[in-house]
Amino acid sequence: MGESMAVIIDGKKISQDVRNEIREETLRLKDDRGIVPGLAVILVGDDSASQIYVRGKKNACGEVGFLSREYRLPADTSEAELLDIIGELNRDHEIHGFLVQLPVPEHIRTEAIIEAIDPGKDVDGFHPYNVGRLFSGNPYHRACTPAGIMELLDRYEIEIKGKEAVIVGRSNIVGKPLALMLLERHATVTVCHTRTKDLSGVVRRAEILVAAAGSPGMITGNMVRDGAVVIDVGINRLDTGKLAGDVVFADACKKASYITPVPGGVGPMTIAMLLKNTLNAASVDDKQQ
Ligand code: GUN
Repeated sequence: MGESMAVIIDGKKISQDVRNEIREETLRLKDDRGIVPGLAVILVGDDSASQIYVRGKKNACGEVGFLSREYRLPADTSEAELLDIIGELNRDHEIHGFLVQLPVPEHIRTEAIIEAIDPGKDVDGFHPYNVGRLFSGNPYHRACTPAGIMELLDRYEIEIKGKEAVIVGRSNIVGKPLALMLLERHATVTVCHTRTKDLSGVVRRAEILVAAAGSPGMITGNMVRDGAVVIDVGINRLDTGKLAGDVVFADACKKASYITPVPGGVGPMTIAMLLKNTLNAASVDDKQQ
């Protein structure tokens, strides 16, 4: 590749394309079947990053013509109270999808919350049912950030089949589900984590490199294989207030064939895929009733 520069993957634009498509399909769903997709978001406590995410989800709903509902609960809300609200939303015919913004306060068990959500309304794709469907190669709701990464790869017509893919980070939200999605598309997948020996050596093999470790600047230019597709999932708020990815962008640009920036890469895709899952949930809605 020499000194040629990578194509910068424009997540903001692709996310807008996806949202435009969703808005059109939402209009059709209303006109043809009288269904208005409804998304509810529950926020417990006042985590500042979570508040920003929740506002973004609400605004996105407005933009595509969804009904949106927001529950802001105090930090001392009990697990039982939260489970009650989840039960109500499971039965609510106006709401086709909902989520509890994570993290929840420590006295609430995250697993108990996720497992209480009706899998058909679990538009985050976190419920064991949806995880299991992905595991067995027949996905229903897919986790939004990894699904957004797949969408970016597909819309840039980046070949996945047979490629050496390396994911750095093994979270339930990104690393693990993305490994399954890439495997399903016939990549050879390696997942690295904090105990990986010779991380640089493994990362240097990657034709598709996904950095999802949450460690600013941990992927340096010398770790990027010539011509690699570099996907940066890191959203790290630096002390200066600036957002930084897990990848040293300026250096990786010189080695990569494609690269996602932070911000404006993977981030905007997450909400777009959340809307897509909600639209799908709404469009199967009355077939199931
Ligand atoms: N916190 C950070 N990312 C997410 C997400 O995708 N869904 C939920 N529910 N909480 C999050």
